[in-house]
Amino acid sequence: MPEAENLSTRGAVRDDKAEVLEICERVYGERDYLPEVWDNWVSNEPSSGEFRIGMLDGRIVGFYHLTYRGNQSWMESLRVDVDRRRMGIGRRLTHDALDRVTAKGSRVIRLVTSQRNLGSRGLFREQAFEEVTYPHYMKFDGVMHPSSDNSLVRNPERDEIVKFLHSSGSLGGPHFLSPLWWRWWEFDEMMLDELLENGSALGLGDGGNLDALLLLNTTSRFGYKNSVQITFLGGTIQTMYTLTKHIPRYLDKTSGDEGITGYFSIPARGSEAEMALSQASFEDGTNLVVVQKILT
Ligand SMILES: CC(C)(COP(=O)(O)OP(=O)(O)OC[C@H]1O[C@@H](n2cnc3c(N)ncnc32)[C@H](O)[C@@H]1OP(=O)(O)O)[C@@H](O)C(=O)NCCC(=O)NCCS
Repeated sequence: MPEAENLSTRGAVRDDKAEVLEICERVYGERDYLPEVWDNWVSNEPSSGEFRIGMLDGRIVGFYHLTYRGNQSWMESLRVDVDRRRMGIGRRLTHDALDRVTAKGSRVIRLVTSQRNLGSRGLFREQAFEEVTYPHYMKFDGVMHPSSDNSLVRNPERDEIVKFLHSSGSLGGPHFLSPLWWRWWEFDEMMLDELLENGSALGLGDGGNLDALLLLNTTSRFGYKNSVQITFLGGTIQTMYTLTKHIPRYLDKTSGDEGITGYFSIPARGSEAEMALSQASFEDGTNLVVVQKILT
């Protein structure tokens, strides 16, 4: 559309905060997570990624954020101001993102959106992204009370974890995507080590043999609250449910001194992990879709 042809893009600076947050307010009201992560995203740390701003007639009209993990890239927080929709701005910002990640050597770009967000799904379908997985956000806001002791529940050794992940197909198989906070990456040993370094693993099984495994991580290192993220990496509904009930006992290393604000997990829709979480009284949240585009 003609108006978007004049769109220019640039990196965000701290002074953009007020204008960016006004747009967030108009788009999502109070429900937006972006105000909370803003400082982290404009901190110029290598891990803070790139926050890109779209300008039209001297005003900010849209923006998005990129992060990288090796040669994979992640796009998030694409927003176009409410009175500037359907002018091609979202498409232009997406092209800007594709140009940037391609120039950086990414072989794939991904993002997540709500299944109900038909505008976003339409935009990315049009740009030849494919829908690759359908996760389900689930949360538990109350206080978790631990079950009584179970000698099979423990913090497993790394070797044991790797062996289990190979046998459950979570490691080594192609394109197994797992969320780290709200970003889905191909799961590999590097990601496992990062999760173990910043959180902990909880396994069920006797000496040397695991029947179920979950990883615990807190979101504060992404600049966002102190929620505990639970990632299941194998097990049956019953064994995963048993593990969930023992989480509070094993949180010391993960939670640090700050109080925990809640628990969440984003299992694949229809998975055994989803059923185990339902049994453990986790509330149903948004049904999501992860889309990706392979870049050549
Ligand atoms: C999704 C969003 C970024 C689209 O921005 P936009 O500038 O309005 O999109 P564009 O004008 O560039 O649209 C490009 C194409 O996407 C599709 N599209 C965009 N909005 C759509 C809608 N509401 N319904 C159906 N298709 C839509 C269409 O194919 C459109 O092409 P067309 O207008 O020629 O039919 C915008 O609606 C937005 O900010 N939504 C809230 C935040 C959000 O959902 N972000 C994406 C998830 S991270």
